Amino acid sequence: MRTRVAIIGSGPAGLLVGSILTRAGIDNVIIERRSRDYVLGRIRAGVLEDATVQLLLSLGAGTRMMREGLPHHGFAIQFNGEALRINIDALTNGRSVMVYGQTEVTRDLMDLRADSGAETVFEAENVTLHDFDRGRPYVTWQKDGFARRIECDFVAGCDGYHGVSRASVPAAAIRTFERAYPFGWLGVLADVPPCDPELIYAAHSRGFALCSMRSARRSRYYIQCAADEDVNHWSDQQFWDELRRRLDAKAAANVVMGPSIEKSVAPLRSFVAEPLRFGKLFLAGDAAHIVPPTGAKGLNLAARDAQQLANAIVEFYLQRSTRGIDTYSQSALERIWKVERFSWAMTTMLHRFEHFSPFEQRMQEAEFRQLQTSEAARRVLAESYVGVE
Ligand code: APR
Ligand code: PHB
Repeated sequence: MRTRVAIIGSGPAGLLVGSILTRAGIDNVIIERRSRDYVLGRIRAGVLEDATVQLLLSLGAGTRMMREGLPHHGFAIQFNGEALRINIDALTNGRSVMVYGQTEVTRDLMDLRADSGAETVFEAENVTLHDFDRGRPYVTWQKDGFARRIECDFVAGCDGYHGVSRASVPAAAIRTFERAYPFGWLGVLADVPPCDPELIYAAHSRGFALCSMRSARRSRYYIQCAADEDVNHWSDQQFWDELRRRLDAKAAANVVMGPSIEKSVAPLRSFVAEPLRFGKLFLAGDAAHIVPPTGAKGLNLAARDAQQLANAIVEFYLQRSTRGIDTYSQSALERIWKVERFSWAMTTMLHRFEHFSPFEQRMQEAEFRQLQTSEAARRVLAESYVGVE
């Protein structure tokens, strides 16, 4: 087999690279380790920046999002019971975010791809990248007991944090930067109306809590927990009780409880790999970086990477220019580090850190006071939340 671009991974990053290339008439194949159903069963975050919304619309993958997604014009921060609304709309000249689950984005992009006829290989075992740093790359894997091979011009490594792409790069050629936070998030999805029409990020002495949603009838809640928390130790009732303890009285009273339809623990991590290009291999999305979920940036960052990488490849084929692929790594990293800073700052302000000294706790409070009293500070936060270029 031969294609122009072999894309490793069928998450949002790989699917977006694929649809931008397909739309430009550039042949590509996605090679995914899991089954389609497995990929669509993963529950992930759910806030889209306006640039992500625009990208999905421009690709023709935005119809259901426009029908079912919830535009949000503000969100709340609670700090030990004191509430502050961040009016995104007023602070960013009318911009907004869209609440629409990553699972739905993935489904819409998969449907678009299926309609386009572009090929995706699911359940590919032992995916291995070859010769991407010298000349003619190819990718091998096994499927149904048969060995497969595809030759390509470029490899897009969109296979997430645990994928094979970054791991294929010689250690001496890559540098990584990492912070593992000493806690995780315990998340619950339940078919109950949200406790508030807007998202609530709550800092509390018992730990952080987040009230989010997927629709007017489906809520997504998280509470800060131990990094190695066993999800089986939490009954639904214990979760609801702990969530309500961390919210102010009004939000707590409005929490509608119900049986969880998903419950899971996610670790929090900041991570960046540099550079993002190794000859003919490019990293994008979670393969290149991880942000803690506090600012809902993971999917949006992946979308920006995918857009930038795919446009660079389109430029290479249609305009015979290497400018985009030559500058991808550096310019994407500049953007990525800004978002890393934002996600780290939100995480640090709002979580309970066991090892924090009284001084550091006062610093957290001072960060909140700064937001309370300074419109400029709120504007910086709101701009980062809707997305900076
Ligand atoms: N070979 C092929 N595919 C692989 C391999 C491999 N060795 N390893 C992982 N994959 C697949 C995974 O099964 C997954 O479907 O790569 C895909 C990566 O998708 P995501 O993890 O969704 O990553 P990405 O597309 O970069 O999207 C980033 O996902 O994790 C969230 O918070 C993150 O919202 C952000 C988004
Ligand atoms: C979610 O709805 O899953 C969600 C929302 C906002 C975040 C993180 C996760 O910051």
